[in-house]
Amino acid sequence: MTNQCVLITGANGEIGHGLIRFLSREGLTKIVALDRSPIDDYQKEVEFYKGDILDRNLIDELGRRYQFDTIFHLAGILSTGGERDPLLAHNVNVEGSLNLLNMADAQSMQRGKPVVFFFPSTIAIYGFESLEQKVKAGKINEDNYLHATTMYGINKLYIENLGRYFSQTYKRFDTTPGLTRIDFRCIRLPGIMSADSLPSGGTSDYGPEMIHAAAQGKPYECFVTPETRLPFMAMPDAIDAIISIARAKKSVLSSTVYNIGSFSISAEEIRQEVMKYFSAAQISFKPNPQRLAIVNSWPGDVDDSRARRDWAWKSDFDRVSAFRDYLIPGIMRRYSVSASKVSLTSCVGA
Ligand code: SER
Repeated sequence: MTNQCVLITGANGEIGHGLIRFLSREGLTKIVALDRSPIDDYQKEVEFYKGDILDRNLIDELGRRYQFDTIFHLAGILSTGGERDPLLAHNVNVEGSLNLLNMADAQSMQRGKPVVFFFPSTIAIYGFESLEQKVKAGKINEDNYLHATTMYGINKLYIENLGRYFSQTYKRFDTTPGLTRIDFRCIRLPGIMSADSLPSGGTSDYGPEMIHAAAQGKPYECFVTPETRLPFMAMPDAIDAIISIARAKKSVLSSTVYNIGSFSISAEEIRQEVMKYFSAAQISFKPNPQRLAIVNSWPGDVDDSRARRDWAWKSDFDRVSAFRDYLIPGIMRRYSVSASKVSLTSCVGA
């Protein structure tokens, strides 16, 4: 994996930070990063471009300047943000992705070597008609309930399909000898919890928000009901999954799209985990009907056996260890919370 060159769009987002940290620690990859706002922490490690994925000239210029082995296209507008400005979300999530796919296609063609194009899809591409249907469905595989209810979910589902199209049948009537297409790979991420950052504009945000608020001694009003359930994942697992699928041998991949799971947890269970460590946390529930409806349309759990079988996906954390071994220590460091302020039982991992 030496002398690789990667492009990360949305580099200043939560996953962007995690990915840059991972790759720069490894020290084997030249990292080109793109975002609308600068990434302060990693100035030395990356060649940073301040700009927009909607700026086609900029994207094409990056394509001329570098030869990318992998593009991690992370930029996008999440589900709540997307419902606030659906047309902007469509533009960014679809047109922006198309600009990147086009550039990756041109590079693959020129070099005769497929650019690996990683795309983070989401549980938001699923859509249940009712809460009863969600509960009854339980763990779902990749092939059912593909009825996204948000602009974000619809955009992501479309790009899943468009990416597959670019990698399999794009330019099907082109007779250029040695036509090389991109190598599109995508995972459907659950809600992500990071100890180092907070998401913005998502609808699974109540999970990480609850923990970060508790660590800062701030009261938190949760916008879903206690029994609301989603699959969640700790950030290190998400980074591990992204790197693993991007580096998997093409021959093992039976699909361009994979669910990945870690743990399924209700909002009340998140509260209970938080209370183990921050026993004075003030967490209440005040459901927001629109945001609750979005979360209720998403699965409570996912079947990730395809990813386990094809590229040996395995989460390093379960519900308890995600909090005990990653989130709580990291969040305490972040907010400089001393161990004495945290409930003693939790420090011994009870
Ligand atoms: N975290 C995303 C959101 O809440 C879902 O994948 O929009």
